[in-house]
Amino acid sequence: MKARILEGKTGIITGALDENSIAWKTAVKAHQHGAKILLTNAPVALRMGKVQQLAEQLETEVIGADATSLEDLGKLYDAAEAKFGKLDFILHSIGMSPNVRKEKPYTDLNYDWMFKTLDISAISFHKMMSLAYKRKLMKEWGSVVALSFIAAQRSFPKYGDMSDAKALLESIARTFGYYFGRDQKVRVNTISQSPTPTTAGTGVDGFDQMLKYGEVMSPLGNATAEDCADLCVLLFSDFTKRITMQNLFSDGGFSSVGASPEILGTR
Ligand code: NAI
Repeated sequence: MKARILEGKTGIITGALDENSIAWKTAVKAHQHGAKILLTNAPVALRMGKVQQLAEQLETEVIGADATSLEDLGKLYDAAEAKFGKLDFILHSIGMSPNVRKEKPYTDLNYDWMFKTLDISAISFHKMMSLAYKRKLMKEWGSVVALSFIAAQRSFPKYGDMSDAKALLESIARTFGYYFGRDQKVRVNTISQSPTPTTAGTGVDGFDQMLKYGEVMSPLGNATAEDCADLCVLLFSDFTKRITMQNLFSDGGFSSVGASPEILGTR
């Protein structure tokens, strides 16, 4: 029988929009592993997406919350506490850039939009952790995970100001991870995932080419949304109790390759 490594655990999963979402796959797998989950997404996503369908499947509910709003997050945590008491895990699976969406070049950003990008895609992670920390919402050895991309370290021009958001997101994980670990024994990590065909992913100009490039650069091929979900489940579990403040690459080896024969045309 398959081991259920999240038996008895409870958590919040953000960002499940449709079946392609990494958060959707993670919620399904975490549930299969025995976890009880509260789902949340932005109010607009509740109207446009399919998250209610997922909630029915997992016999749970969805709480609408804009992750940039401390008030909304407070209400989300009230609901989570009423349902579960303290939590074992939280997944931050949220990203959006108006500049990328409207194809504004990086050399000519709209700065109001850039603030939005940073707030939605990175500072919301700080807000979620700060509120949870102050309320002592997480159990000891709890786990907080956010999803990142290698544009935090390397230049991917079409990824625009999302690159800056991901660099900030990873820094917040390290910096908050210190306090969360020292004071409450809570882990904080990011997963840097391969390009993945989701609503957010395919919204980046040149996504198909990035997907193909990743496929031939990575010795194991691109990591899929399922692969990422498996790693999330592992990071929520007790098997990774002392892994914290890390950025783990779920990328088939892409981040360690300089050039591949396929790219050089030498094969
Ligand atoms: P997705 O489009 O399915 O998920 C993004 C989610 O963010 C949506 O559910 C959306 O409603 C939510 N969101 C946007 N603004 C919000 C707000 N203000 N408050 C609350 N939620 C909000 O796409 P995907 O790919 O599953 O994205 C999940 C995470 O994975 C994001 O952080 C993304 O940057 C990251 N990621 C995605 C990759 C890809 O190629 N798809 C690669 C590496 C990382």
